[in-house]
Amino acid sequence: MKGQESRVVSQYSVIPFNEATEMIMFVTVTSQRFVLILCLLFLEGCSNNSSQQSFVVLPDPVNSIVSIDTVISHSQIPNSRFNINQTINNATLNNRVDSDSLMNWAEMAYPYYFPAHAVNSFQDPYEYRYYSSTGNYLGISGNEVYVMGPLSGGKILDVGSTNSFFCSVFPINCNQGQPIELYDYFTKSSLNLFPLQASILLGGISDQSVTLSFLSGTDGASFYLQYGNQSNQYTNKTSTFSSIPHQPFKCLVNSLNSNTQYYYQVVQIDALGHEHISAEQTFHTARPSGQTFTFTVQADSHLDENSDLSQYYLTLANISKDRPDFHIDLGDTFMTEKYSVPLSANAVRATDSSTVFRRYLYERNNYGLITGSIPLFLVNGNHDGELGWLNDGTSQNISIWSTSARLNYFLNPTPNNFFSGDSYQNIFTGQRASWYSWTWGDAQFIVLDPFWNTPTSGSSDPWAMTLGISQYNWLSDTLSKSNAKFKFIFLHNLVGGLLSAMRGGVEAAPYYEWGGLDINGANSFATHRPNLQMPIHNLLVKYKVTAVFHGHDHLYARQFLDGIVYQEVPQPSAINYSNYKSIASSYNYLSGTILGSSGHLRLTVSPGGVKSQYIHSWLPKDTSPSRTNGEIADEWNISSP
Ligand SMILES: [Fe+2]
Repeated sequence: MKGQESRVVSQYSVIPFNEATEMIMFVTVTSQRFVLILCLLFLEGCSNNSSQQSFVVLPDPVNSIVSIDTVISHSQIPNSRFNINQTINNATLNNRVDSDSLMNWAEMAYPYYFPAHAVNSFQDPYEYRYYSSTGNYLGISGNEVYVMGPLSGGKILDVGSTNSFFCSVFPINCNQGQPIELYDYFTKSSLNLFPLQASILLGGISDQSVTLSFLSGTDGASFYLQYGNQSNQYTNKTSTFSSIPHQPFKCLVNSLNSNTQYYYQVVQIDALGHEHISAEQTFHTARPSGQTFTFTVQADSHLDENSDLSQYYLTLANISKDRPDFHIDLGDTFMTEKYSVPLSANAVRATDSSTVFRRYLYERNNYGLITGSIPLFLVNGNHDGELGWLNDGTSQNISIWSTSARLNYFLNPTPNNFFSGDSYQNIFTGQRASWYSWTWGDAQFIVLDPFWNTPTSGSSDPWAMTLGISQYNWLSDTLSKSNAKFKFIFLHNLVGGLLSAMRGGVEAAPYYEWGGLDINGANSFATHRPNLQMPIHNLLVKYKVTAVFHGHDHLYARQFLDGIVYQEVPQPSAINYSNYKSIASSYNYLSGTILGSSGHLRLTVSPGGVKSQYIHSWLPKDTSPSRTNGEIADEWNISSP
């Protein structure tokens, strides 16, 4: 790439940048001791050599420094100098963290402090690396890890034992000693002699770009992309990038043409020089008005004791067959607020960041089945941990860990020229990317998050549930300015709901922040929400929203209220699919078309209307003459206004 590029620093200013690069690498890693949550590192680009725009987002240095001072455990040691000439043997990887692996990881996780790559130096009793551009040291002595420099106010700080970082450095090996298998769609689909040993996830798809997250399952690998707009004709090839095993490597592929089908392969090069080539994958950049397209929706995969992994994989396979432009997940996917271990009946909330990261990695690998060709958008659920009432304001709580893990492994969009959304910068996570909107074809897509700004659990006071003033105003503004024929809302559950557990569809819509009534029928909206124009449901009616897609209640419910479809989305993974009538009754669903799980929704948006189809998943053991996998269990159509 020639000519001057530019980069954005802290998203406030643009400064010149002259590198021949076009790639943005995002690293978002937490540990129990290190606190810098969000680091965005600029590396070499994922594109061809044509002229391009290039941007990099760096962390807010003020916030970063503040955070490390407030949370690192301080333990100043007597010797404040690094000494020279002592060699410390690296520990083996036999369930221990060796110094090289730890410092390599720290360079990846905290590039703002430890810009890669410094050489190892030795001074009794330390093995250390010095980063001259930042003035920071990272050292290990015995089993303890130390930092020193501007990041620690000049002091030597003990930030924990080497093994306390084990799950951060080796997350894939941190499943109670058992490796987590990388379930690899590419491996299973490729006919290459050396199939890809990685999973791929696409996100942030727009009119001109897509972000690709590469999660390598092997050591010593590098990779590159080759892509083009015709099958098997890859006219563009990126540079080759080194990857760290089990840490997502994220790059932005930009300068794409809008409304274009792209084809690509990922080529991984192992330590022996073998090329592992993925099967051909595809994506489609944003559609203009007037074009027909498909997207898919799921909710509440849970993967708890009432779930079946085979059932979930079958639904993911059915989604893949639909070839949607993108997939939207309505939450309760990671479940760290309730279950730490997948497919377990043991309800234990995650108590540390490593546990949270393991669960997000596990679900990331499940999604690797389909996300090489289907960009993913996540919606937060009440069990996904990102809850205002569990956020104590420090860096060490499940709300921060879960946000950080989502940002690390997934690719929700932050505001730019294509997406609008939350610009709030959390001190520990950076931009949270939990509510956002975009236009695709003739539809406006709006994702809401009613959890982060809710200070106390809705079970104690349903009026406590809120979008918060900034999200509400953004919603109102987005709806008022939208010229799209169809407007869709996506959230896990209504803002309020019923039965102290945020339950319900149209029967719950009239209450609390969503509809303005107390449970006794009195309208007290003005008292409880003096700063909001009107209840959310009224806002959606005013701006002629087409449909609200919500989850949380584990059934299929198609309802209608004041011109809006209220669609409860079924589970993709449930093993108990026959209890839906009792669920509907106990959750106050009194009207509409009610069906059981499992499956997903396939939406087809055309200039003339919207078609929604419930695609039922039936495992072979459950099929019968009246039950066929992939059958359309229900369908609704809305004509163009
Ligand atoms: Fe839920």
